[in-house]
Amino acid sequence: MTANPKQARIADLIRQATVIPVLTIERLEDAVPLARALVAGGVRTLEVTLRTPVAADAAKAIIAEVPEAIVGIGTILNGEDLARAEALGARFGISPGATPELLQAAAASRLPFAPGIATASELMQALADGFDVVKFFPAEQAGGIKALRALAGPFPNVRVCPTGGVSEANAATWLAEPNVLAVGGSWLCPASDIRAGNWAGITAMCAKAMKTLKSA
Ligand code: 3PG
Repeated sequence: MTANPKQARIADLIRQATVIPVLTIERLEDAVPLARALVAGGVRTLEVTLRTPVAADAAKAIIAEVPEAIVGIGTILNGEDLARAEALGARFGISPGATPELLQAAAASRLPFAPGIATASELMQALADGFDVVKFFPAEQAGGIKALRALAGPFPNVRVCPTGGVSEANAATWLAEPNVLAVGGSWLCPASDIRAGNWAGITAMCAKAMKTLKSA
């Protein structure tokens, strides 16, 4: 258990989510209907990635118009991205990695933040800066559950959100690991469904996933 209140906050935010969809929003007009579709399916905690030109405006629109959504910013790569996330009013930040510059900026910021790690050394760097809640990325490609279990040996107190290759087929298996707080991934918001405006399909997929995963 962490004694740091900011770490406790990010742990709580991630734990209550069960699943955190990783959103890549190409068209600003998709942002609000997509968020509403996810929320309607019981998926409230969203990671809006800073991967497209409209990402920041998309996050702003969701925060303003979908109050049930708990909006975090993902793909935070440096201190500047972190400051943008904070200025947008994001509830948390997530990164695929953990550079010393980003970790120091995040340690100095009030935003609850989970850096990304895939190796013991990256995790040690994150821990040195006070981060014991991390994104394990890319989870499947970096060794999957076997790698996570191996990391839990030397680092028993670290809690993780595996992301990368997580899907409907393996989400429950990941969630059964004692150090997994929630899983992240893009499978609940496929680019093809977003492009087609298949909001009902996204809601149905989320509702089904949440039912299965919460009861697992
Ligand atoms: C991420 O940034 O977390 C990943 O791109 C999500 O990975 P997935 O598309 O395999 O779910």
